[in-house]
Amino acid sequence: MSDWHQQIEQVFRLIDREIWIVTAAAGPRRGGLVATWVSRASLDPQAPLVVVGLAPNHYTAELALAAGGFALHLVAREQLELVWQFALGSGRDRDKLAGVPVTTGQTGAPILSKCLAWLECRVVTTYDSGDRIFFWADVVGGQRVGAGTPLTETDLIAAASPEQLAALRQDMAADIERQPPLRLKWRQQFEQRPPQ
Ligand SMILES: Cc1cc2nc3c(=O)[nH]c(=O)nc-3n(C[C@H](O)[C@H](O)[C@H](O)COP(=O)(O)O)c2cc1C
Repeated sequence: MSDWHQQIEQVFRLIDREIWIVTAAAGPRRGGLVATWVSRASLDPQAPLVVVGLAPNHYTAELALAAGGFALHLVAREQLELVWQFALGSGRDRDKLAGVPVTTGQTGAPILSKCLAWLECRVVTTYDSGDRIFFWADVVGGQRVGAGTPLTETDLIAAASPEQLAALRQDMAADIERQPPLRLKWRQQFEQRPPQ
């Protein structure tokens, strides 16, 4: 990495984002993933809106697109094991919700019974930037379920075992290989080239 890329990376490393578990279901298919690209997108409490960025190769993105909705969950610091269940691998290969108590939301999304808080969201529109699909979604329901502080990315990484870190690196390497061509294709429609 060049010197100035490293300096930019240092800036991003100052940010610690909360961990969200995103779930969605389309008919009998259900799944979920861990996301940090979740943001409140409206200051109006009467019209709550979120933006969520999901990679198009992730199963949960496919389900959220098909269902037109999804649920977002904040989890407590004690719920690390639950988070790892969603952070690794693909819901195409296994039911990530097996054994996890859930109720069904109005969009069909599974709502985790044990979490700090949840929001259910109905998709208004999406924007495809190649390696991410951004979902603008109305928040149609939500509840604070437990007390405590939301788990953050730093908490998750700090408590990870060597095996969990290795599995995460492997998944990230696969994503890093798959996603840049998609992003470059999106960039080609704009005149400005990314800096080298
Ligand atoms: C800390 C952390 C943050 C993540 N943030 C996102 C994110 O914002 N969007 C996304 O699509 N994937 C994100 N991921 C990756 C997915 O959670 C992961 O690849 C997941 O296994 C995909 O599952 P699926 O294919 O079953 O949907 C993140 C993973 C971790 C560990």
